[in-house]
Amino acid sequence: MKPSRRQLFGYAGAAAAGAAAGGAAVVAFDKEPPVPAPVSRLISPYGDHQPGIVAAAPRHGELVAFTLLPSTDKAALARLMRLWSADVVALGNGRPAPGDTAPELVTANVRLTTTVGFGARVFELAGQKAAAPDDLPVMRHDRLQAAWSGGDLLIFVGADDELSVVHAVRRFVADAKPFATPVWRQSGFWNSTGPDGQPVTGRNLFGQVDGTGNPAVGTPEFDATVWTADGGTTLVVRRIQLNLDTWDELTRSEQERAVGRKLSTGAPLTGTAEHDELDLDARDADGRPLIAANAHARLSHHSENDGRRIFRKGLNYVHDTGTKRESGLIFLSYQADIAGQFLPLLARLDAADALNEWTTTIGSAVFAIPPGFQPGGWLGQKLLG
Ligand code: HEM
Repeated sequence: MKPSRRQLFGYAGAAAAGAAAGGAAVVAFDKEPPVPAPVSRLISPYGDHQPGIVAAAPRHGELVAFTLLPSTDKAALARLMRLWSADVVALGNGRPAPGDTAPELVTANVRLTTTVGFGARVFELAGQKAAAPDDLPVMRHDRLQAAWSGGDLLIFVGADDELSVVHAVRRFVADAKPFATPVWRQSGFWNSTGPDGQPVTGRNLFGQVDGTGNPAVGTPEFDATVWTADGGTTLVVRRIQLNLDTWDELTRSEQERAVGRKLSTGAPLTGTAEHDELDLDARDADGRPLIAANAHARLSHHSENDGRRIFRKGLNYVHDTGTKRESGLIFLSYQADIAGQFLPLLARLDAADALNEWTTTIGSAVFAIPPGFQPGGWLGQKLLG
């Protein structure tokens, strides 16, 4: 069969070819191609919650953790939060930050968001009980490095354009200089747009569809999973190396068994579509469970964890030293309560997860994410104001 123009050029290519031919080529379509709904590329920096949490995964993200300088007291920290809030608003609206030294690098419409987090030290300075633990207990499989762990403050900038991310981070780091110094920086990428421009879940570097089991944004389940009473949340950042060399030695069916889902679609091994429910009781002819006892998707499933859920939103990373490449996942998990939701899940996976053979956690940090703010307000105002 002769391929259609659309198959030859793809959607955008066909549209461009049609335009080049003065529009006449449009009649070559059997019917008009669907016009995708316009997507707003500007995410308001204001709101009850910091907006990056529910926004669709950004193509690029950079996280920077800082340690507070000994001279930074509560009043100084409040000054930094006012400065950072002004940056969050300007850059989120596609405008240069106050005092921007390279305003030409600001591009509007790249879905830029900034999420700010507080480590335990911030609560200590504010004389309040910490909203997140200082750190997580070290797991048996962890090989943590100080270079990727801890921190008193966090900024996480995400956008669909890497230059915008790098520029925004530069502003936040420059404004923080009198108050705090970076302790680690991590950047990564995620693709949550399908070939037809529609949103998809996205894949990690093992090739797995990753994020399917998440509670859907805007549902009561999501709200109960993520938000604390004041509109904040907590964030766990884990830097997890993926051993792609040994993973690649497996057959596809061995890879699929390790998670309990298909590589092609992300569907459970007991279903056909990505969002089909897992059938954890299904067995093969020999009576063996179709989703193995140690499969990642079984062990982490809420039905096997007293209903505990988390909201995961990772970034793939690569880290090159000379010609040597390390690959991994910057695993990000939001939940209202780290001790009640995240930790039991982590401990269960550490004890039995099939994936442990190919994954090693080398960094770990936890932050309380304060609620969002409205015009005239600033981040952390309730705690530090
Ligand atoms: C690099 C390490 C990891 C990889 C490659 C990975 C990959 C995956 C994949 C492919 C799925 C199935 C699709 C989906 O529901 O998103 C999944 C599900 C899940 N993972 Fe992970 N994961 C990793 C680490 C973790 C960690 C550290 C936790 C928590 C402590 C976790 C918690 C979960 C949860 C809660 C689900 C959803 C289960 C459900 O309700 O269906 N994962 N993960």
